[in-house]
Amino acid sequence: MKKVSSFILSLVTLALITAGCQKPYSGSQKQFTRYDRQARELLARMTLDEKIGQMIQAETTGLKDPSDIETYYLGSILAGGSADPKAGNSPEAWTDEFETAMAHSLKTRLRIPLLFGIDAVHGHNNITGATIFPHNIALGYANDPELVEEIGRATAVEMRATGIHWAFAPCVAAAQDQRWGRTYESFSADPKICGRLGAAASRGLQGDSLAADDSVLACVKHYAGDGGTAMGTARGGHGLDQGDTRCDEDTFRRLHLAQYRQAIKEGAGSIMPSYSSWNGVKCSANKYLLTDILRGELGFEGFLISDYEAIKQIDPDFKKAIAISVNAGMDMAMEPTRYREFFALLKELVQEGTVTQQRIDEAVIRILRVKFAMGLLDPDYDYKVDRSQLAVIGCQEHRDLARRAVRQSLVTLKDDDKVLDLLRKAQSLLVAGSAADDIGQQCGGWTIDWQGKTGAITTGTTILSAVKQAVGPAATVWFSPEGDITAKADVALVVIGEKPYAEFEGDRNELKLSPEDIALVKTVKAGGMPVVVILLSGRSLDMDDISDYADVIIAAWLPGTEAAGITDFLALTPDGRN
Ligand code: GLC
Repeated sequence: MKKVSSFILSLVTLALITAGCQKPYSGSQKQFTRYDRQARELLARMTLDEKIGQMIQAETTGLKDPSDIETYYLGSILAGGSADPKAGNSPEAWTDEFETAMAHSLKTRLRIPLLFGIDAVHGHNNITGATIFPHNIALGYANDPELVEEIGRATAVEMRATGIHWAFAPCVAAAQDQRWGRTYESFSADPKICGRLGAAASRGLQGDSLAADDSVLACVKHYAGDGGTAMGTARGGHGLDQGDTRCDEDTFRRLHLAQYRQAIKEGAGSIMPSYSSWNGVKCSANKYLLTDILRGELGFEGFLISDYEAIKQIDPDFKKAIAISVNAGMDMAMEPTRYREFFALLKELVQEGTVTQQRIDEAVIRILRVKFAMGLLDPDYDYKVDRSQLAVIGCQEHRDLARRAVRQSLVTLKDDDKVLDLLRKAQSLLVAGSAADDIGQQCGGWTIDWQGKTGAITTGTTILSAVKQAVGPAATVWFSPEGDITAKADVALVVIGEKPYAEFEGDRNELKLSPEDIALVKTVKAGGMPVVVILLSGRSLDMDDISDYADVIIAAWLPGTEAAGITDFLALTPDGRN
């Protein structure tokens, strides 16, 4: 008898130890299902209007009246890529925006806090002064899951400093055609890399516990096949973005579904279906994808958020489109301005039985479970932001992390050790090209504005500043946007590349350098100096037009605010110049 009881005791002890050290369900979908009972109890107290409201996300700049958050019981608000606060783009103004929206939601009868979402796709990139990390294409080349997780962590910390707790990231598209304007949002054409790094990003964003005050909800996107569309199938028969992915199911699963498995297993709490179609069927209308595979096969227990006004693309009759998408499995609709209309139409659909009460309840339970897991429905939940944390935005620790990510992500397309040695010893350097002193161009799209823009749009280190810092007083650095070669230098660093763009605005029919960039490299080479070219781009570009005029070519992708990672990669220091 004694032996048996001690054996049972040791088993119980072992169970308690593992339970104790096991993270509280984080890193799995159980972190949502564990709140099933509480969600159903809350659901039972909700009216149909309150349920429908939870399924709607309006945009801050789209609200006809801020009190519509209360009137329509809105479950969420987003700030789109260019939705700056009326008070201007500062961390304080963003924090005020967050608190104002939350305050409205807590004036509703059941005080269900809303979710505030934003496209933090390479740092807290809408906010002036935030650390801007390299876009995913660069991180895909670094291919370092720990680095990506650290970046997710730093992004979450800077987001929560403003209160904002939902990132529409990571994008796990496997970009198959680099003419696509969203290639730079993809980690790779290889779904295995997308899966591994997407899971790491999701882990970093959501942290050890979604309820922690420095964690944010991740949103894996765009489900699925966004990176596999065929040229000419997009809007109006041109381009790739939001087009049609035409392939058999095996190919679709291999290239476009596999990368979701890992992020779901890691506990990602939301997924955004794609604007694009699979063999002619809109992903946002595809029940096989949104319910049978995602829920039935991949075990996803979080909720689905539509892309920005994506539902209306399903059918010219908005009411019909809503019915198709919600019945296919869409749980929340991103309706920046048409939220009142959506509310009324979905209510009609339920009252006439086209959308069942059961389907509504299922969507709302999924949303509530995530809100429970995030601690939003804790009795002591307080939306007020600790503003002493604002100092973490753009902090040196995060900028150093971004600098390391830049260094790890650069690719040498053409090498010449002698020229690089000369660059390290040069007494005089010519830095040519307007892109060398343009923080906006080195950050690319989704930075401060949806499309991004050139110029001094935020704080950081340009390539020119990085070179000056790296070589120090030991060398003379000339800067000439036009590549003026009268000033004789030992070596030239020529910075060329794409101007910022996002989404369909970046679709191209060919991937050649601009005539201006080709001319710049040729002009500088004509000066007789060795030429090192730094390329800023959201994808691989055709280097044939300059390869004979450049001795070294480095692909820097879209490095973000910390260009010192480039001079680190080139090993530029003051040493060796005396
Ligand atoms: C955009 C993008 C999506 C983004 C959403 C909200 O159109 O497709 O990636 O998260 O709208 O800005």
